[in-house]
Amino acid sequence: SEVKKIAVLGGDGIGPEVVGEALKVLQKTEELFGYKFETEHGLFGGIAIDEKGTPLPQETLDLCKSADAVLLGAVGGPKWDNNSKELRPETGLLGIRKELGLFSNIRPANVFDCLKEASTLKPEVLEGTDLIVVRELTGGIYFGEKFRREGANGEEAVDTCAYSVQEIERIARQAFDIAMTRGKKLASVDKANVLETSRLWREVVIRVAEEYPEVELEHILVDNCAMQLLRRPSSFDVIVTENMFGDILSDEAAMLTGSIGMLSSASLGEGSFGLYEPVHGSAPDIAGQEISNPIATILSVALMFRLTFGYHDAAKSIEDAVEEVLNAGNRTTDIAVDKSKALSTSQMGDLIIAAMKK
Ligand code: NAD
Ligand code: IPM
Ligand code: MN
Repeated sequence: SEVKKIAVLGGDGIGPEVVGEALKVLQKTEELFGYKFETEHGLFGGIAIDEKGTPLPQETLDLCKSADAVLLGAVGGPKWDNNSKELRPETGLLGIRKELGLFSNIRPANVFDCLKEASTLKPEVLEGTDLIVVRELTGGIYFGEKFRREGANGEEAVDTCAYSVQEIERIARQAFDIAMTRGKKLASVDKANVLETSRLWREVVIRVAEEYPEVELEHILVDNCAMQLLRRPSSFDVIVTENMFGDILSDEAAMLTGSIGMLSSASLGEGSFGLYEPVHGSAPDIAGQEISNPIATILSVALMFRLTFGYHDAAKSIEDAVEEVLNAGNRTTDIAVDKSKALSTSQMGDLIIAAMKK
């Protein structure tokens, strides 16, 4: 069969270590299913600043553009935290999303039954929780004009938030399309009681909703949503929201699954090309200890198979293997109740590839 080219950007902190486990999954998929992957590594984030003087070198961007999909670890760390904007790893991440046109970030939070005890929430509250956050990824306050100025009382900083009708329409359509494949419920999250961008957001979502009469649409203010996610998580199906709200709400939703180390993501544009990365960051507090949870990254590979390659058999094999390994009681530190029995990153990865079946 056709060879799929995957650009691999490990990044910083725990990024390379979780990506390493995902690469084992790619290899196991080749053995089991006969699919062929060509992987090529690129420098990205803090390590690219150190080696090339920029977080997103042109050759890395070119590599991604020449690939069918991108597998990304995470970027950032204290070493670069006081750098100017251009020399921050996070600026590279925003740049790659923008340059590749990846306006839609899909972050599924499905609760594995056996991990209910790993969550800080009560198991009965989590019962039946299976939601997806659809986060707008290339607009809003992240990408608006930013500057400092001299105000009446000294220095001021300004971040501007802008959304166009077209940007809202395309992310709304993505979310409605996803809702149609699931429970046909969509919660659109905004702050329309205060923000002009949110008032436009709500208007446009209402207009797009006319194309999807079967989808039950709820508008919910972001502060209320943050609360309802903990109060009645199982009542959500698809949540669509702007860039910064989506960033925050998806980390909150991660705790429904037991750990941020469980949350995978897909960043998509108009075509089948996608960038796949865990929702978590470079976790400097545990970097280098080989104790990070690789499941978020491994499940991101399953998303890549489903959404970019259409390899549904291999995606299911990964998802089933993760569930089987967790059901057998295997845990990394972040999801372990008895931390003394926790597995290392590579032990978890090895168990998952051993459990993969055709
Ligand atoms: P973080 O997600 O890196 O870590 C938050 C907490 O979760 C930490 O205690 C960490 O140890 C834990 N954690 C995260 N992933 C884990 C995993 N796989 N297994 C076990 N525990 C895990 O968020 P942060 O500490 O706010 O940010 C650290 C750095 O990462 C910052 O530089 C930030 O800008 C960057 N960041 C990058 C991305 C990305 O590359 N997509 C995402 C978020 C944060
Ligand atoms: C994420 C991260 C990034 C974001 C940062 C590192 C720029 O938190 O991918 O969720 O805010 O989008
Ligand atoms: Mn985030």
